[in-house]
Amino acid sequence: MRVLGIETSCDETGVAVHDSARGLLAHCLHSQIETHARYGGVVPELASRDHVRKLAPLIREALERAQTPRTALDGIAYTRGPGLAGALLVGAATARAMAFALDIPAVGVHHMEAHLLAPLLEADPPAFPFVALLVSGGHTMLVQVAGVGRYRLLGESLDDAAGEAFDKTAKLLGLGYPGGPAVERAARDGDPGRFRFPRPMTDRPGLDFSFSGLKTHTLNTARREGDAPQTVADIARAFQDAVIDTLAIKCRRALDETGVRRLVVAGGVGANAALRERLAEVARRRDARVHYPRIEFCTDNGAMVAHAGCLRLPGEGSRDDAFDIAPRWDLESLAPPGDAVTAPAAGASAPGAGSRG
Ligand code: KG4
Ligand code: ZN
Repeated sequence: MRVLGIETSCDETGVAVHDSARGLLAHCLHSQIETHARYGGVVPELASRDHVRKLAPLIREALERAQTPRTALDGIAYTRGPGLAGALLVGAATARAMAFALDIPAVGVHHMEAHLLAPLLEADPPAFPFVALLVSGGHTMLVQVAGVGRYRLLGESLDDAAGEAFDKTAKLLGLGYPGGPAVERAARDGDPGRFRFPRPMTDRPGLDFSFSGLKTHTLNTARREGDAPQTVADIARAFQDAVIDTLAIKCRRALDETGVRRLVVAGGVGANAALRERLAEVARRRDARVHYPRIEFCTDNGAMVAHAGCLRLPGEGSRDDAFDIAPRWDLESLAPPGDAVTAPAAGASAPGAGSRG
């Protein structure tokens, strides 16, 4: 089965063609970093407009690179949620219109499911069951994954997501947008011994996270210590060490509590090299393995959507000419492909603009 995948949940337009027998045939990405950089964060209306401008040309390019005429497609997958409502609408409308014109089925996939299955695109994919650490701009979750659509939430952030904490910290340290890579760069020159920030919620049992206090701690330190370049680097280092240590402690706990020996890390923060090093160490000590998508598939992309679509389309594709989105959509509500899907119905999904994936 050959599927076109479309990702437009936030600030990246991603398109890819995935074939269940031959794997990934092509993927194209347009990042909106330049559009949002001057505002220090994602501006939803600008994101939607940019998806409108970029999506059709990217679809043409991906099909050309995959040497796949549109008539050779068996289905289309798009991100249905969670994400920014206006941005999601662009992908959903385009996918449904194209599928209608081609008389093929389309399916709306869950953005976080697409992230957590992304390591299956790699040459040495993880077997089920595994524990997934999902760390993106909108979510921080630990999930026990028994199979596709069989997800048990072990813990999540009670406030800011890890990526969001990186973004806010970068902003308050004057390091620019997007925050994660900027903090990581600054932290490389930081002295690990100068400041020590708290590791939130690690002193009690449980697998939930909280990062907003850490952000306040960073702000107070920055106000007190000033903004000399070395100080900024030292604060970035202390912040990053605290986040990574917290994530590593909870991953270790999740492996111990579930007895599972495979850890999958997905979502934008998974691109962080220091986090990868630290989790490799956790895994080594537990005789476990860590799986990541390749770096470019840690952040948002069309490949993970086309791939999830290949798994979901056979049981769930539909030729509806109506389409819906789910800006807020609980990962645990998903069922295995083909089973009754408990996604929120059209219109029942979310008041408001939704959140970041
Ligand atoms: O998964 P993603 O591309 O988009 C969402 O679904 O949110 O994740 C984006 C997030 C942003 O908060 C970004 O700052 C963070 O991932 N990020 C990083 C790094 N690269 C991206 N955080 C830490 N270190 C990085 N190298
Ligand atoms: Zn994402």
